[in-house]
Amino acid sequence: MRPPSPGDPANLELTASEMRGLADEVVARVVAHVATLATQPACGDVRAEALCRSLREATPEEPAAAAPLLDALFHEWIPRSFTAPHPGYLAYIPGGGLFPAALADFISAATNRFTGVWQAAPVLLQLEANALAWLRDWMQFPATTSGLFTTGGSMATFNAILCARERHLGRELRPGVLYASTQAHLSVAKSGKLAGIFDDRVRSIAVDAAFRMRPDALAAAVRADRARGLQPFLVVSSAGTTNTGAVDPLDAIADLCAAEGLWHHVDGAYGAFFHAVPALRPLLAGLSRADSLTLDPHKGLFLPYGTGALLVRDGAALRAAHDVPQAGYLPARPDSDDFYDPSVHGPDLSRGFPGLRVWLSVKLFGAARLRAAIAEKRELALEAAERIARIPGVVLDAAPQLSLFAFHLSWRGATVADENAATRALLERVTARGRVMLTGCAVDGRFLGRVCVLSFRTRRAQIDACVEDLATEAAGLVPRALAPR
Ligand SMILES: Cc1ncc(COP(=O)(O)O)c(C=O)c1O
Repeated sequence: MRPPSPGDPANLELTASEMRGLADEVVARVVAHVATLATQPACGDVRAEALCRSLREATPEEPAAAAPLLDALFHEWIPRSFTAPHPGYLAYIPGGGLFPAALADFISAATNRFTGVWQAAPVLLQLEANALAWLRDWMQFPATTSGLFTTGGSMATFNAILCARERHLGRELRPGVLYASTQAHLSVAKSGKLAGIFDDRVRSIAVDAAFRMRPDALAAAVRADRARGLQPFLVVSSAGTTNTGAVDPLDAIADLCAAEGLWHHVDGAYGAFFHAVPALRPLLAGLSRADSLTLDPHKGLFLPYGTGALLVRDGAALRAAHDVPQAGYLPARPDSDDFYDPSVHGPDLSRGFPGLRVWLSVKLFGAARLRAAIAEKRELALEAAERIARIPGVVLDAAPQLSLFAFHLSWRGATVADENAATRALLERVTARGRVMLTGCAVDGRFLGRVCVLSFRTRRAQIDACVEDLATEAAGLVPRALAPR
């Protein structure tokens, strides 16, 4: 890229050939990067303190050449991060990052249309409304539903809590009590706090042996709070927890919420997209009865990071949560709910075009292929869990309810501390081999290994690698003669 002409320093516009030249430089590197992901280590080298310090610099006054910057970015800096799009990334909750979604982001940013209000981009917003309606249909929510694309699951849950708060508490927030299991994602408590529901009004409900919220404990907690004069208003259940993949008994919780007059929000950031596959819906029975649902297309729909979504069964509640008098400088809002106005449904005004990455990905692949990929991830997880449970010394703590399972190492005579240390070492050693990346979680004093199969790039080869590497490293950590079977 040429620097702007020194004779016209205020000109920031590129010529057509400069745009093409710069885009070609970027695309060449992106394609090389994505096409070779499988040959990169599944966990990047993130020991980079010295590099971070060396990169601090004053604002550059003069233009730099693009090629050396891009080379450093792709060859030195991007690799110094978790390789989240790697096929062997079985850590945390993967997603992958579908390439068309990256192109959608490029189109959105390059064409830079304002999609904050309906009048500014009615046709583009129709595409976004279509994408939200597809999510609604996959989740079997009713036609009254309204939705919102957010930056992630956390912001979707935050907006859901606003809806429940507005509807049930109005301006009297302090008596309001929120319920979630001990295994709920941290975004629930954080969103509560942001919404004015502080930690003394958030109850952690006990779970059963499969890490699912216990409806009897929930009912008892609601009763106790009512007896104290407080106002139970919201239950957040999990359609797949991050720790072990547990799906709360959504139907039983929906019954309880209906009987008690509580808002039922389901956090489906990890698991909701399994509901898009009709054969898997029984695993999430009750999900479609929720008052609101968090989805994370950047997990279960395989999009790159940056897209969460919220569905609210009674769309009026989503609008009420964001309702303020219209500013005099803005166009009048559409007088019919027939058209989708994001500023009426969410907190943002100026925004890019977050719906395009969902819309373009679904259009280019078609829903059938996406469903096939989602279903395959569950099949692979079932197979992986079965094979890993047969490795001597491995104890399965949580079988896959969807596509995530948890385990630890155990042997006769070992203390919990020994087993925790060995399980931690197992994950580190397997990850250091470079074919798969695994992370664990601490639950009730136990450290558990986890495998989460959710990236579209994860296929049978990575499951084979995971099982082989776990078996090899477990053999070095568990004295075979002492393994408990
Ligand atoms: C179950 C669950 N809920 C919520 C979240 C938060 O989603 P996000 O990171 O997109 O904000 C996560 C993230 O991993 C999650 O696993």
